[in-house]
Amino acid sequence: MSTTPATPAPDADWWRQAAVYQIYPRSFADANGDGIGDLKGITSRVPYLKQLGIDAVWLSPFYPSALADGGYDVDDYRDVDPKLGTLEDFDEMSAALHEAGIRVIVDIVPNHTSDRHEWFKEALASPKGSAARERYIFRDGQGADGELPPNDWTSIFGGGAWERVTEPDGTPGQWYFHLFAMEQPDLNWDNPEVHEDFKKTLRFWSDRGVDGFRVDVAHGLKKDMDAAHDDLETIHRADLFSLGEHPLWDRDEVHSIYAGWREIFNEYTPPRTAVAEAWVHADRRAKYASPEGLGQAFNFDLLQADFDAGQYREIIATNLAEAAATGASSTWVFSNHDVVRHATRYGLPKGGGHIGVGQDGRDWLLRGGDPAEVDVELGLRRAKAATALMLALPGSAYLYQGEELGLQEVGEIPDSERQDPTFFRNPGIEVGRDGCRVPLPWEQEGTSFGFGSGGSHLPQPAWFGRYAASVQEADAGSTLAFYRRALALRHELQGAERLTWHESADDDVLHFERPGGWHVVANFGDAPVNLPEGDLLLVSAEAEEGKLPAGATAWIRSQG
Ligand code: GLC
Ligand code: CA
Repeated sequence: MSTTPATPAPDADWWRQAAVYQIYPRSFADANGDGIGDLKGITSRVPYLKQLGIDAVWLSPFYPSALADGGYDVDDYRDVDPKLGTLEDFDEMSAALHEAGIRVIVDIVPNHTSDRHEWFKEALASPKGSAARERYIFRDGQGADGELPPNDWTSIFGGGAWERVTEPDGTPGQWYFHLFAMEQPDLNWDNPEVHEDFKKTLRFWSDRGVDGFRVDVAHGLKKDMDAAHDDLETIHRADLFSLGEHPLWDRDEVHSIYAGWREIFNEYTPPRTAVAEAWVHADRRAKYASPEGLGQAFNFDLLQADFDAGQYREIIATNLAEAAATGASSTWVFSNHDVVRHATRYGLPKGGGHIGVGQDGRDWLLRGGDPAEVDVELGLRRAKAATALMLALPGSAYLYQGEELGLQEVGEIPDSERQDPTFFRNPGIEVGRDGCRVPLPWEQEGTSFGFGSGGSHLPQPAWFGRYAASVQEADAGSTLAFYRRALALRHELQGAERLTWHESADDDVLHFERPGGWHVVANFGDAPVNLPEGDLLLVSAEAEEGKLPAGATAWIRSQG
């Protein structure tokens, strides 16, 4: 068999098989030494990103924000937080990335603004029933004096979903709705003014040359606020999800918003892309990913899976079939800024009772396992095997900053230093998401391991130095070297979005083939297995006597 030549995807299709690297800007690189990562810091690391071999970066929010929710509380969608830089810094960063052949995706947060947004300030200063209040979800309270919330729905971050305001005349007044933190009032997507403003934002960034958008909480914008007011459990009822009947999530009406956005995306050449963050039932994901909608939607299935061949196979097959049916390409992801890093997840004792279970019962949102109980070596080994498998799949792959260093979740953050609202709203239950947001170690030594000269806004543990990029750059056997090699080889794989399964005698082994005689074998079991004939291009753990060890993935190109 001969090798399929590397044919670069036509411009408009660049996203279909892109490797996208997520940057959490506050924690990436700090150029001015104030302890907070910034845009100039990102610019300074463009050579690193280029060498890594990614196709695009996705930047978590860098907009002005009080950081009540890590920047997902946006004060102004069309500006840069002065703590992170200026619009000029953005343009400079974006030019440097483009120059290096890397596309730029920004995060759009349409479900809620921050409580410091000028609209919200205006709403508070305006009377009940005013146009300013109509941009949000204000309701009168229950009880004799409206002292009780309009209903008992709870916030995703814990606690009630309503907050009472003080009216301009100083009296206790109406309540506003917030799915997330109270600093994140939900917008009213039944109001045309809200639609217009977001279109303006999409054009603002598209005109600046942004290539695509990641749409935060894409399944949350449309709500039936009059439904089932007496049902505390409503917000957690998964069965309503699958039917599209949940009052707050994944309502069919939401797609008309994205149809309007698509028209804007298509005004540009190449069309701007979008990917939905939509935690919906797998059957309902296709609508978000449709070419008339956002075009792609995150598939979080592997992220939620155990390290298990059967689960992986089922998930891969289902999602590829779904992508083929809609014309989108699938999206694969193991780590992001909301979940425990996969190198740690895969090293946690299965079902370990020490793990804080997500408030909504989704225990894959493992929050802060006791670091003493993590099998770091096993976790990293499996994470690399999983990543090698992911990077060989058709579709786009999303990587989260630091995973290329094999970084573990930071469990040992003192309570006094925690920042995530999920920690504060769930005392004693959740430790929050700070553990995956600790600033990156670039150097082995120094106060903040090369992150910046002025310390780090979240404490870095002593062991971070071992994972430093500079250490790994000098080591051909490092996790970083492995990621670089996999990403470089991946470019040769970007032929047809096809995959053929080879049945394996061993249930713990997955084997598939991509065009050009590329074989991918992943060993989820405990014993070494034989590898097919051919050139060993990549292996996530040292092959032993021609065999693929436990917890490892290999890429092989068959000769002929
Ligand atoms: C998304 C973001 C998360 C944020 C939430 C509210 O899930 O990924 O970080 O807290 O939306 O904006
Ligand atoms: Ca800074």
